[in-house]
Amino acid sequence: MAVFRLDRFIATQAGISRSEASSAVKAGRVRVNNKTEKNVSAKIDAENDRVFFDGNPVEYSEFVYIMLNKPAGVLSASRDPKMKTVVDLVPDSLRRKNLFPAGRLDRDSVGLIILTDDGQFCHRLLSPKKHVYKTYFVRLDGAVPDSAERIFGDGAVLEDGTKCLPARLFDIDNDKYCARVQICEGKFHQVKRMFNSVGLNVIYLKREGIGPLSLDEGLAEGQCRALKREEVYLMLGENP
Ligand code: URA
Repeated sequence: MAVFRLDRFIATQAGISRSEASSAVKAGRVRVNNKTEKNVSAKIDAENDRVFFDGNPVEYSEFVYIMLNKPAGVLSASRDPKMKTVVDLVPDSLRRKNLFPAGRLDRDSVGLIILTDDGQFCHRLLSPKKHVYKTYFVRLDGAVPDSAERIFGDGAVLEDGTKCLPARLFDIDNDKYCARVQICEGKFHQVKRMFNSVGLNVIYLKREGIGPLSLDEGLAEGQCRALKREEVYLMLGENP
């Protein structure tokens, strides 16, 4: 039986912060079964109680899916004895025991990372066979050569001879030395190495999207929020 405090249940299942959930409960916006419940620590049996928020049913989901805007200097790992990790940035209201990042960003990279405790979801997101594309914004140390779009489109060859899958290079701005690239695999330092293959260094890298999901620009670096149910389904290519 999955039992939660009411404010935590509302926060995790409705995708709002614990303090927003707590205020909503105190304001009488939450009904449990047939009764308005203003006690934030009331216990909810997730499988049997029926919870309504502003009159709308709040469905229980076994897993949690979190969008984080990763800052530089944080490791894409669940835990580390010395360094701060992406999981350390998740507030208690969204914390679950087996939370891990679905995919990695380098320590100096920033932007969208998804944290979940759903292994199957992670597999579907990361499997190269699924061809989920990721969108990156990059700043470079020079102008993008004319040949780069074609080279990336054909599949860049990295310094060790590894051939990449075709990628899309776009939004090239050779005045500001920046561009966007979409890749659908996740080799080690792949974007940096692809640009190295055309004679450039990446000096800033931000992941802006994973498949159809874009980073919520309302999230400052280091902030996160639960994905909405429809966003999870969007990522899985299914209907809610
Ligand atoms: N490619 C890189 O080189 N680094 C990242 O962090 C992500 C993709």
